[in-house]
Amino acid sequence: MYQLSAFSTQTFLSENWQRQPCVLTNVLSDFDDPLDEHDLAGLAQEAEIDSRIISHINDTWTVTEGPFTEFTDVCQGAWTLMVQGVDAHIEEAALLMNAFNFIPHWRMDDLLVSFSQPGAGVGAHIDQYDVFIVQGKGQRRWQVGAKPIQSKRFYPHPKLQQTDEFEPIIDVLLNPGDVLYIPPGFPHKGESISECLNYSIGFRAPDQSELLQVIADDILENDKTTQRFSDTNRQISDSPAALTNTDMLLLKQLLQQYVTSPQIDQVLTQYLSKQNDALDNYELDTPVSSAELLELVSQGVTIEHACGVRPVYLDEQNADDDCQHADDMFVFFINGQRFATSVDERPITSRLLDNFQSVIQCDEAPSASWIDMLCELINRGYIEIVDE
Ligand code: SIN
Ligand code: CO
Repeated sequence: MYQLSAFSTQTFLSENWQRQPCVLTNVLSDFDDPLDEHDLAGLAQEAEIDSRIISHINDTWTVTEGPFTEFTDVCQGAWTLMVQGVDAHIEEAALLMNAFNFIPHWRMDDLLVSFSQPGAGVGAHIDQYDVFIVQGKGQRRWQVGAKPIQSKRFYPHPKLQQTDEFEPIIDVLLNPGDVLYIPPGFPHKGESISECLNYSIGFRAPDQSELLQVIADDILENDKTTQRFSDTNRQISDSPAALTNTDMLLLKQLLQQYVTSPQIDQVLTQYLSKQNDALDNYELDTPVSSAELLELVSQGVTIEHACGVRPVYLDEQNADDDCQHADDMFVFFINGQRFATSVDERPITSRLLDNFQSVIQCDEAPSASWIDMLCELINRGYIEIVDE
């Protein structure tokens, strides 16, 4: 298990999160890398995993995208291998990401792991999202600049975005177990001193266009009824070509009424629970039956989330939030898949969803339908039984 120590999440949230970059020295003390460069190279050979090698030789930047069958030709000069979504494939990596779950699941994106040679980096750049960069093996110099009012971005290679060099406000050497937090918009640059492994815990924040798209798609796909503009208090118009402020306000109110209605809460929750296609491709060699599971649960059983699973549920649920189910259901989502259980069993269910690992005690006696639901989660590969 990875755990942040000597770190006040409260102070961090009020002073740094989304505001100010900071260095968290040795917050993951006695840090053990969750993987090594050979594991990373293995992942970079898989077609469904996003990987790239960035190399820098004599002022020339090259980006080669995976999957890789051969590394020697591309690993030239000062090179970095980067693999995206590692949390969905390596349990220890998912556990490292889990150490940051004082930020909710839906805000988390994925774990990017990089392996870099001495002198390597991807150059000065600006990311749009918050990131915690954990230093694994090796030592790396990181520089972070102040957030510019306007930033210049350019592409030394079509697949590599960089920004101008900057005056650092942070200039540190990170050692294993140190963490650098960078909010969106701050230019930064890492340069390895020795062979390094870095783990970037990336977050996401939807924009208005994305959310409006989700709402519009839901209306179209599910043939939802929406209200039409009405103007019972219409006044005489002297300028027939003019669309008045009053009318514009009514139009905006019509829109606002829909986007703030409870009926979209579960739609957005479902969308925000989507993480990684890899999670839907799990296959269980030997599915478990409800009877077998009931037997296990009756003795008390420990269960845990499979690699990279981060469930999401709407905290306040009313029956009319979700027209797909009868009253008294507690709804949750895993990677966009919808599940429901009786509202009476919300405590045991939310415990299972909130915690990476949980123990179902023999005296809890969940209902047959809850066991069926757990059985489905296990057979879909989202939840695993821990052998003790
Ligand atoms: C890296 O690990 O080399 C890049 C991480 C980042 O700058 O976002
Ligand atoms: Co970055």
